[in-house]
Amino acid sequence: VFADGNPQPDVMLVGEAPGRDEDIEGLPFVGRSGRLLDAMLAAIGVSRKTNAYIANVVPWRPPGNRTPTPLETEICRPFIERQIELARPKILVALGGPSAKVLLHANEGILRLRGNWKVHRTASGVEIPTMPTLHPAYLLRNPAHKKLAWRDLLEVAARLDQMRA
Ligand code: URA
Repeated sequence: VFADGNPQPDVMLVGEAPGRDEDIEGLPFVGRSGRLLDAMLAAIGVSRKTNAYIANVVPWRPPGNRTPTPLETEICRPFIERQIELARPKILVALGGPSAKVLLHANEGILRLRGNWKVHRTASGVEIPTMPTLHPAYLLRNPAHKKLAWRDLLEVAARLDQMRA
């Protein structure tokens, strides 16, 4: 499961790894969490049809839908880093802990990281503002935390507006 959306995007979103639905369709975020993600993005005027590009740190579905191990995400790091470099998004959004850990070389948990701008530096030295936020699958299980993700997306929308001004 490689990617979906505009490969020259304003916003690139990076998830963890494909699930069953994604594996079947060959596209990221097409199951339940994908539908939530699309709705959240639409609320800030972002969509995969226009200005968003979506990928995962691990492009294969881990057996039984388990979280990819740190070794697996490290093995896949060069691929997502190159994908980001080629897409050159204005803003990166890391969806969930495993993605934030890879993109930001961070060790803290996602509840601590989320909501604070960080920088992802590509291999060639390009710096991309990066917003870590909660994974849509987590939000489906913990709907009370949707307000936190909404706050993070409003930050993304405001930063995009500033960049366009
Ligand atoms: N969860 C992810 O992290 N990625 C997908 O593509 C689908 C669900």
